[in-house]
Formats: sequence, structure tokens, C-alpha cells
Amino acid sequence: MMCCFTVAAIVLLFSFSSSSADTPENFVQCLYNYPRMTNPISNVVYTQTNPSYSSILDMSIRISMFSNSSTKPQVIVTPLDVSHIQATIICAQRHGMQIRTRSGGHDYEGLSYVARVPFSIVDLFNLRQITVNVENRTAWVQAGATLGELYYTISQKTKTLGFPAGVCATVGTGGLFSGGGYGFLMRKYGLAADNIIDAHIIDVNGNLLDRKAMGEDLFWAIRGGGGASFGVIVAWKIKLVPVPSTVTVFNVARTLEENATEIIQKWQLVANKMDERIFIRVDVKKVNSSEHGKQTIQANFVSMFQGGVEELIPMVQKSLPELGLDRKDCTETSWIGSVVFANAVLLGSSVNEVTDVLLNRTQIRVNNFKGKSDYVRKPIPVDGLRGLWRLLYDDKVEDAVVQFAPYGGRMDEISESEIPFPHRSGYIFHVHYAVIWQEEGDEAARRHMNWIKKLYKYMEPYVSNSPRAAYLNYRDLDIGMNNNGYTSYHQASIWGVKYFGNNFRRLVEVKTKVDPHDFFRNEQSIPTLSKEENYYQETI
Ligand SMILES: Cc1cc2nc3c(=O)[nH]c(=O)nc-3n(C[C@H](O)[C@H](O)[C@H](O)COP(=O)(O)OP(=O)(O)OC[C@H]3O[C@@H](n4cnc5c(N)ncnc54)[C@H](O)[C@@H]3O)c2cc1C
Ligand SMILES: *[C@@H]1O[C@H](CO)[C@@H](O)[C@H](O)[C@H]1NC(C)=O
Ligand SMILES: *[C@@H]1O[C@H](CO)[C@@H](O)[C@H](O)[C@H]1NC(C)=O
Ligand SMILES: *[C@@H]1O[C@H](CO)[C@@H](O)[C@H](O)[C@H]1NC(C)=O
Ligand SMILES: *[C@@H]1O[C@H](CO)[C@@H](O)[C@H](O)[C@H]1NC(C)=O
Ligand SMILES: *[C@@H]1O[C@H](CO)[C@@H](O)[C@H](O)[C@H]1NC(C)=O
Repeated sequence: MMCCFTVAAIVLLFSFSSSSADTPENFVQCLYNYPRMTNPISNVVYTQTNPSYSSILDMSIRISMFSNSSTKPQVIVTPLDVSHIQATIICAQRHGMQIRTRSGGHDYEGLSYVARVPFSIVDLFNLRQITVNVENRTAWVQAGATLGELYYTISQKTKTLGFPAGVCATVGTGGLFSGGGYGFLMRKYGLAADNIIDAHIIDVNGNLLDRKAMGEDLFWAIRGGGGASFGVIVAWKIKLVPVPSTVTVFNVARTLEENATEIIQKWQLVANKMDERIFIRVDVKKVNSSEHGKQTIQANFVSMFQGGVEELIPMVQKSLPELGLDRKDCTETSWIGSVVFANAVLLGSSVNEVTDVLLNRTQIRVNNFKGKSDYVRKPIPVDGLRGLWRLLYDDKVEDAVVQFAPYGGRMDEISESEIPFPHRSGYIFHVHYAVIWQEEGDEAARRHMNWIKKLYKYMEPYVSNSPRAAYLNYRDLDIGMNNNGYTSYHQASIWGVKYFGNNFRRLVEVKTKVDPHDFFRNEQSIPTLSKEENYYQETI
């Protein structure tokens, strides 16, 4: 992939003719006038009157409740090449338009396609080229590609290389890599962001920068600090990791009557200390009991082991005999088979075709959703677990799940400041809370939101504190957000240190340097540090 660094020159030559009132029409005119485009941009600019506008907007909306947002994007641009992104960034600044960049559209708060100010979307779904270099164990992946597309493309080239990113195939690499990204290979290889070796980003001046040109500060920031605050990421160069040709998966369900609580108690003592090739996640939810009309809590132990079943069984028998893992619970497969398996667990379905589950970009969509996250340092005592089960029993809530993802292994070895994602050694596991509901309306929304807030409050004594750590990729505006306008460093720290710990300060410094006027902003974007007062004066 080639980089060109001549944009500044082009922009100087480019005369901005439309300096009249800022309207979407003027913004679009500016795009059309942008010089030196190889592909005409007019084919990929969708205004609200374009017949394809709604379907383009809807295509990557994963949470339907956000498609009712009162402010819709004025324009959607679906770039075919770098020049289309450059034009959008330059013209948006000219015409007082904010932009939101969307790759896979999985943001938990819809920040890639919802805003409370006039805005346009840069949707990268056309930019999803993937080039795998088996010999050197690297790949270039464009930010609009999904994880499923990446995994599929790797598996077409080799059975013994993989990549440690997330589980869900429809998630975009643009959002997931820039916020961290964890999955079944985390204990052995860390996060997706730990395995990025180069990137192409377009900055606020429209310059296309690779790692060398952007410098180590910005390259550090976009690997875990979120891409949205710094520019538009076009592509990543990643380090592929070795995976054995045979891996083993299982999904073992245990209800409370089958000792789920005891097994989880033991799991908390061993999950982060086991061989780093094994990852056992626990998904806990309410289910109908076999006893008619009753309900119970069920824990699913969902696992992937980088090796064969003969090696796995004795390992689990030794560390977690309470689970009673049997050979018939286990399936030997390839790494790509384990990805398909994990997606089938996620979708609650059986999957026949590899390509169906990995290349279908639109299969995940829920009506209403709220998620949150936590990190745990000390085992949750049995009374704590029982209280959590009581909350999960609540019959006013449709569909809720609490997931525990084990830490340890490689995660213990990487320093907190290596990349902006700081949650490393000392953690036993990561908690993901999610609630999904179909019922429409404000009352149902309030009921489910209140329930998850109550759950979050309940968990406070059992999880990390000062700050209470949170995962950027499970974005949660409840933990704090920016003002629509000037936000002080102090105010942004409220949410900033939860996501980034001591790395927040450095992120603010990088932001101040690369985007001093805070063009790339949203409800939880990194604020600028210096000249805050001046900036405030300029914008009112
Ligand atoms: C069903 C589901 C399963 C998930 N599974 C996992 C998992 O297994 N592991 C895990 O770690 N996370 C997981 N996540 C969380 C996921 O990592 C985040 O939601 C992630 O931000 C999604 O990226 P995206 O590109 O799909 O989202 P988007 O909504 O497109 O983007 C998310 C954020 O990143 C910004 N952004 C996106 N692309 C770019 C770009 N090219 N340049 C600059 N900024 C950009 C957006 O503006 C937005 O702020 C899951 C989420 C869902 C909904
Ligand atoms: C979204 O819009 C639909 C149709 O206009 C409506 O039925 C539904 O109640 C709305 N949902 C929310 C959460 O506002
Ligand atoms: C792998 O890297 C080496 C050393 O940088 C280079 O000479 C070689 O051409 C690369 N191979 C491929 C297939 O790109
Ligand atoms: C639950 O644990 C008890 C005591 O350890 C044991 O006797 C019983 O067999 C277990 N039940 C199941 C279903 O594994
Ligand atoms: C559980 O039981 C209830 C009532 O009997 C039923 O409505 C519901 O569909 C069942 N849920 C599942 C997941 O089977
Ligand atoms: C993708 O998945 C959805 C939901 O399962 C399905 O309706 C759709 O037809 C699939 N699309 C393709 C191209 O297979």
C-alpha cells in the first residue's frame, strides 16, 4: 500500500469558493469541487434526499433504538479512496460540519452515526481491502473491513496464523483495533491493539500519515485511545500470530442446581493462572429450568484451547475439576473453526457455512441495548455472586447477560503505559454486562436502563476502584461525558481515567498537538489541553 504526503500542497492550491452560509449544499459543493480525484466523489455522497440515504445509514446500525435519533446525518460519504476522506475532512471544517467516522457501527452508544449537532458520516465500508503476507506474518487491513472478513482472508492463505482480536465477526477493525480489542487469543497474545505495527491515518489537515510520518506519540494514541479523537484511520498493518492447526472448543452449561456457583468460585481462583493457551469465558444468564414453570441461573463455560483435546482434558481436570469437563463436550477444529464456533455461541444458533457467519456484515442487529464493563482484582465472594444472581432473576428485564473474561498470561506482561489501554496485570477477569430488550417505548427503556444501573451499583464493592476501570470499546456515557463545546481537562478526566488510567494525560497532550482546535470530537473524545479559554472564545 502506498502513502502520499502531498496533500498539504493540494489543499493550498484548492480554492474554497463557497464561503457563504454553512449549509449541507455548500458542504456538498465543496466536496464536488475538491481537486484531483481519481474516482468521482459524487457517486458516494448521499444527502437526505438521495433514495439510498436511508439504506446506507441503516446498513451498519447495530442497535435500532439509535436509528430513531432526531438528528440524522446531513450527508453520508462512503469513500472509495483516500482523497474522498481528505475532501470530507477539509470541507467539513470549512462549513462548520462535524464528522463521525463509522467502520463496523458497533459503538455501544451509537457515536459513529448519532450526534446532537449538524454532522456528516464518513462510512468506510467500501474500504475493506485485506492483504496477507504469510512469509513475513503481517497483513494490511483497511479500517472498513470487519473481523470476519479479516479472519476469513487469513484462513484462506494459511491454517497456522491467526490474529488476536474480538469474537463477533461483524465488528469493524476501525473501531475495535483503535479501542483495544480482545478475544479468545488474549491470554496468549494480548489485544488486537498490542499487535499493530503500522497504520495509515488522515489528520485534521487532510494529510495521509503512516507510522513514520505520524510519529510515535500519535501511533501510540490510536492503539487503544480510540481513533475518533485523532483523525480517520484508513488502514492497519498487523502482526499475525502462530496458531496450531488443531484447536479445541467447548461450551459447557451448568445451572445453579448443577453447582454453577461453586464452579465459578473455583474458576475465579484459576482462570487467570492456567496455561495461557486456554481461555475459558463464563456467560451467566437467566434460563427456564427443566422443572416446569421455574427459572434458574445458568453459567456457560465457553472456551478455546490452542491445542488438541488430549492435552486439554487433563489440564482442566487438574485446575477446574468441578466443571466435570468430558471429552464429548469438546470439539477439535481449526482456528477459523473456533471463530465460527464463537460466533454461533454469540448468535445462539448453529452455523453451517463458514462464509455465512464470517462475511455477512448485517447479521447482528438488536432493538434496544445497553452495555457496561468492570475489572476484577479479587475473587467475588459467594454472597456477592448470589446477590448478582438475584438481580439476574428480575422478571422486569427481558434478556440480560454477564460475561467474565479471564485475564493473566500475556496481559500480565505488558506494561500499563505500553499503549493507552491500561488494564493489565493484577486483574483476574474482565466483566461485561449487557441487557437487550425488544419492547418499544420510554417506559421499557427506563426500566432496563435502571436495572443495569442498579446492577452496576451493586457490583461496586467487588470490582476495581479509584478509578473504577472501564473498557472504551464497551462505551458507556453514564460514566461521564463532554459538554457540547468546551470541556475542561478536569471534567473529561472523570470518564478519561476510567478508560485510560494514567495514560489519559498523555492522550490529551497528543490530541492537543495533532488536533488543537478539537475538530474530531464527540461525547467522549479526548479534549485538548492548552488554550482552552481562547478556543472557547473563538467558538461562541
Ligand atoms: C455484538 C458485539 C460484539 C462485540 N464483541 C467484542 C469483542 O469480542 N471484543 C472486543 O474487544 N469488543 C467487542 N465489541 C465492542 C467493539 O470492539 C466496539 O463496539 C468497537 O468500537 C466497534 O468498532 P466498529 O468499527 O464496529 O464500530 P463503529 O461504531 O464504527 O466505531 C466505534 C468508534 O470508533 C470510531 N471509529 C471507527 N472507525 C474509525 C476509523 N477508521 N478512524 C477513526 N475512528 C474510527 C467511531 O467514530 C466510534 O467512535 C463488540 C460489540 C458488539 C456490538
Ligand atoms: C422508533 O420509531 C418507531 C417508528 O417510528 C416507533 O414505533 C418506536 O416506538 C420508536 N422507538 C423509540 C425507542 O423511540
Ligand atoms: C519479507 O521481508 C523481507 C525482509 O524485509 C523482504 O526482503 C521480503 O521481500 C518480504 N517478503 C514478502 C513476501 O513480502
Ligand atoms: C455438586 O457438588 C456436590 C458436592 O461437591 C456433588 O456431590 C454433586 O455431585 C455436584 N452436582 C453436580 C450436578 O455436579
Ligand atoms: C421460558 O418460559 C416462558 C414461560 O413458560 C416462555 O414464555 C419463554 O419463551 C421461555 N423462554 C425460553 C428461552 O425458552
Ligand atoms: C445475513 O444474515 C441475516 C440475518 O441472519 C440474513 O437475513 C441475511 O440474508 C444474510 N445476508 C446474506 C448476504 O447472507
